[in-house]
Amino acid sequence: MKIGVYSGSFDPITKGHTEIIVRAAKLVEKLIVVVLNNVNKKYLFNLEEREEMVKETFKNIVNIEVKSFQGLLVNFMHENNSTLIIRGLRAVSDYEYELTMAFANKEISEEEIETIFIPSSKKYMYLSSTVVREVALNGGKLNLYLDEVVEKKIREKIALEKK
Ligand code: PNS
Repeated sequence: MKIGVYSGSFDPITKGHTEIIVRAAKLVEKLIVVVLNNVNKKYLFNLEEREEMVKETFKNIVNIEVKSFQGLLVNFMHENNSTLIIRGLRAVSDYEYELTMAFANKEISEEEIETIFIPSSKKYMYLSSTVVREVALNGGKLNLYLDEVVEKKIREKIALEKK
């Protein structure tokens, strides 16, 4: 079975991620969406909360499985019998970061792991979790960016943080 892995930190999952993941799931028999930590980021939601939101988002898509993992993505891939990473590519600014990760993952997996990129749709080209958090923290509209359940979670989280 061809198993693909879509990796990310999803803090929180946006409609931009969702759009790419739904397209990615059509290219493989099974797509595992794995929620990981990026050492360079400080998160609003913890790993379990992020995983929960991603699970909720894809609960009706049969060939998508959602997991979380602490550690290297290549180790996760090995444990889950996959050699294919799928990532979304937005504007040119993503390019260097994405290539750096793709090369590193290929090298540290002894050339086993391949990364492919799906171009984001124009609509979500400039959407990021960072923008979403910024808008949310300042009380802006989020329905263009987030599914309803995720919007509710971020509003609750921010209200808690402000207490
Ligand atoms: O959504 P992000 O933050 O761009 O995703 C980055 C992520 C979490 C996929 C990346 O940081 C990652 O794979 N982290 C796990 C640790 C790892 O394997 N790092 C090596 C890749 S250079």
